[in-house]
Amino acid sequence: MCSLPRPAMMGFNCMSSRVHLLGVHIYTACFAYIQTRKARSGAERPSGATSWSRLDLGVVILVPTCVLFVSILLWVHTLHRQCCVYRTPNRNDMEESLDDQRLMSPDISTTGSGSGLPLLIQRTIASTIILQESIGKGRFGEVWRGKWRGEDVAVKIFSSRDEKSWFREVEIYQTIMLRHENILGFVAADNKDNGSWTQLWLVSEYHEHGSMFDYLNRYTVSVEGMVVLAVSVASGLAHLHMEIIGSQGKPAIAHRDLKSKNILVKKNGSAVIADLGLAVKHDSLINTTDIPSNHRVGTKRYMAPEVLDDTINMNNFESFKQADIYSLGLVLWEVARRCPVTGIYEDYQLPYYDMVPSDPSVEDMVKVVCDQKLRPTIPNQWQSCEALRVMGKIMRECWYTNAAARLTALRIKKTVSQVTIIMDVKD
Ligand SMILES: Nc1ncnc2c1ncn2[C@@H]1O[C@H](COP(=O)(O)OP(=O)(O)OP(=O)(O)O)[C@@H](O)[C@H]1O
Ligand SMILES: [Mg+2]
Repeated sequence: MCSLPRPAMMGFNCMSSRVHLLGVHIYTACFAYIQTRKARSGAERPSGATSWSRLDLGVVILVPTCVLFVSILLWVHTLHRQCCVYRTPNRNDMEESLDDQRLMSPDISTTGSGSGLPLLIQRTIASTIILQESIGKGRFGEVWRGKWRGEDVAVKIFSSRDEKSWFREVEIYQTIMLRHENILGFVAADNKDNGSWTQLWLVSEYHEHGSMFDYLNRYTVSVEGMVVLAVSVASGLAHLHMEIIGSQGKPAIAHRDLKSKNILVKKNGSAVIADLGLAVKHDSLINTTDIPSNHRVGTKRYMAPEVLDDTINMNNFESFKQADIYSLGLVLWEVARRCPVTGIYEDYQLPYYDMVPSDPSVEDMVKVVCDQKLRPTIPNQWQSCEALRVMGKIMRECWYTNAAARLTALRIKKTVSQVTIIMDVKD
């Protein structure tokens, strides 16, 4: 792969050669000074007497040593600054690099998401991807399967009209330390002029099973399969929600559009969370959320009651995480229905399929979720299967009207993982 010199390294090399040059100049100056003194004193001093006075020695040893010391300090300081700048890319850096029509692309074989900028190689990728087939359409553009160096990649193409959505999604994927096995692996962002308009590309790992919605429509799942899906989605969400403090940390992130269409199923039956375009980041040290969030974003069917009736406390970041947990409960319900109990399983359905019309309005959802306080039905037969009984209990605890009483993603991950352990012991 062709790689361009990294800006940080260019700065580093430049600085080190400047230090070297400075040293050469100082030595030259010192010797010139001593030669002048010798020439001057040669006439006064008898031959055979030593030509190096204490002052001369001082000049030769002390001055260059001091200069060398200061230079090394300067060098180390510059090196440290360059590393820091490279480790924490900011919005301007990203805008610049995208303006350049360069992209940040990690090795495609890496899994998970997050920018990991020091490892990235700049190159224009759009021209080297060959689009193969359109695999889906969403609110923001179309998704294609493409080939890049013999491997499949997914390319989400936004029109320049949706530039803000593209930029936001790329920005979230570039969040430092975001990479995780249950978050869609980001590959690159690029813009491409197709002659008449500019396409904005978001390249990610390709998962041939498609979304969890597609997968559950097509297949039923075993108890083990259900547990793997549930644990992986809860793990991905727990990672998003978790704030890691420190220079190598990550902000807390709330997804705000969690649903089975925004989760993809990997070959091994586990899942990754995708579509981070509506996500918000939170930094607890300065207690700020990175964008002023509009109230009702996301997909109406999956909106928590406090989002639907607009009573959510936007000043508390925990509220966004709690709203995600409500949506996660609905996703778990979709999965659990496809798991057979005594050989019988339900057909695939969206949450509230039997209570609201196919494209429900906010009012439709408010009536059911807030006013009537209804939730998806948990079938009685789930009580006869330990894993499904636990799943049903978790769902109820995700759907409380009181958002603060809901489980956390980490708690759900741990509880569902324990179901696996119990199953193992029984086996
Ligand atoms: N990385 C991927 N690998 C494989 N298939 C993908 C990938 N990303 C998206 N898809 C497929 O493309 C479809 C469209 O995705 P997109 O995110 O644009 O819309 P959506 O999730 O269906 O709807 P929405 O706009 O509400 O998010 C998905 O449903 C999925 O089937
Ligand atoms: Mg989507």
